[in-house]
Amino acid sequence: MKISLLEALSIIMILVATSCHHSADLTVAPPMPHQPGPTFLCSHDTIYFQNFVLPVILSGCAKTGCHDDASHKKNYVLDNYSGILKLVVPFDPQSSKLYTVLFSNPEKRMPINSPFNMEQKSIIYWWIKQGAYNNKCDSAGCDSANVTYTTTIYPITQAWCVGCHGGSKPANGISLETYEQVVACANSNRLMGSLRHDAGFYPMPKGGESLSPCDIDLFQKWINIGKP
Ligand code: HEC
Repeated sequence: MKISLLEALSIIMILVATSCHHSADLTVAPPMPHQPGPTFLCSHDTIYFQNFVLPVILSGCAKTGCHDDASHKKNYVLDNYSGILKLVVPFDPQSSKLYTVLFSNPEKRMPINSPFNMEQKSIIYWWIKQGAYNNKCDSAGCDSANVTYTTTIYPITQAWCVGCHGGSKPANGISLETYEQVVACANSNRLMGSLRHDAGFYPMPKGGESLSPCDIDLFQKWINIGKP
């Protein structure tokens, strides 16, 4: 729909005039509020870079020997937003190397040996399709009521850690695939220090920002209540 300048002006005039009324017109949707702070509540139809895309790419691509800062195979460093964006044409997954390389024939396909599953591929597809922004969100509230390994910790380590800390050659010799392994890591006292990015620890997840304050609290809570 095209509107002339005059029409646009009169719409603005009407808006200004009606905004002085005391009873609001509830049939008109209010404008989007400004998002409070740097993070905001997750919307179900948005794929957020920090929450969804980065963990997939860190564990799949930014491993030691591949596209981490030190190895930077083919000069691609895929442990941060701007490095990843070099392989992306925003809004156009089919023209984005980050997406198409997932489907190349087996010699060229990435990640080598462990192709992404359908969910991981759709995360990348929809993130690009939605504009490939460096966005992130917080889930509504931090639900620390019933923290257990299976419901709370396992999903986080699966998403953020096992890509490097799993398989036959886990990073730093630390595997985080099973309950026993995560408990052993927690007992070694390296876990919280690295998650909190404390001095004297390697900051984890490697390459990315830290986990959300909520996720870090959940690990601490889980340890405090005896690692159920
Ligand atoms: C991209 C690969 C990668 C990811 C993802 C990753 N790590 Fe690491 N991790 C490493 C490497 C490599 C080391 C060895 C230290 C170094 O080179 O930074 C390490 C070291 C560690 C250490 C030892 C730290 C210390 O100071 O002794 C812990 C604990 C750890 N990781 C936990 C985790 C947890 C928990 C996650 C998920 C939240 C995670 N890592 C995600 C690669 C990774």
